Amino acid sequence: MSNSAPIGIFDSGIGGLSVLRHVRTLLPHEALLYFADSGFAPYGEKPESVIVERALAIAAFLLRFNIKAMVVACNTATAAAIAALRERYPDLQVVGVEPGLKPAAALTRSGVVGVLATAGTLASDKFQKLQQQISAATGVTFIAQACNGLADQIEKGELQSRDTAALVQRYVAPLLAQKADTLVLGCTHYPFVEPLIASATAATGTPVQLVDTGAPVARQLERLLSQHGLLHTNAPSQGALSAYTTGSRTTLATAFRVLLDLNPPVDEVAGQMD
Ligand code: DGL
Repeated sequence: MSNSAPIGIFDSGIGGLSVLRHVRTLLPHEALLYFADSGFAPYGEKPESVIVERALAIAAFLLRFNIKAMVVACNTATAAAIAALRERYPDLQVVGVEPGLKPAAALTRSGVVGVLATAGTLASDKFQKLQQQISAATGVTFIAQACNGLADQIEKGELQSRDTAALVQRYVAPLLAQKADTLVLGCTHYPFVEPLIASATAATGTPVQLVDTGAPVARQLERLLSQHGLLHTNAPSQGALSAYTTGSRTTLATAFRVLLDLNPPVDEVAGQMD
């Protein structure tokens, strides 16, 4: 495995761009392939077996490019499929994303933390175990809030619409009413509506902290690559970036441009997945 090989990053759609931006900043010389499974989004309310199947198909697609590592930039897919990915591809470095319960437990002063995530993530064994473990160790209470429909609004590019604001308000208000002073963004789509979440919390008058895991995931990727001698450190320029989608090229290209000010080549690959 060459250290100049690319890194694959995937999500159900555009949410993983909130992770990709941290990876590009921390590891600027790495070549990145972004895969948006927008033809099958959202993952959040689908059965685990479907997500496992999608994750394995996406890994097989990305491995055609000889990737040296894969970032599962989706909480829902990590909870459902990371074990299956590691079992099927034991030689591939796989990094997942989990809701940041530990950092949130360290930040909260009220002892109550709200967790915004998909129904799939919150129902998973992985999440349940993590929550019990951190709650037992810290005494912090976690209140889980499934945000049905929110990732979909973000996929549609509705980052500031009245409907999205109403949805955010509906999900955030009960958490604040139960004294949560820290909110975990447990879905990689949600950092893109951080301004709406922040304004929904502003009404309380007390500061509410938001916890995103993009930066820690990038650091974990760096550690893993470094441990395996796979870091691409001495390249002269910014690493290449290309993108693939099972949905529409225009949608993904627009998301890259609007959210990250980037213009990578984007291919539609729904027909090339077998
Ligand atoms: N971005 C995904 C996550 O982090 C899920 C969005 C969805 O497809 O429901 O959970």
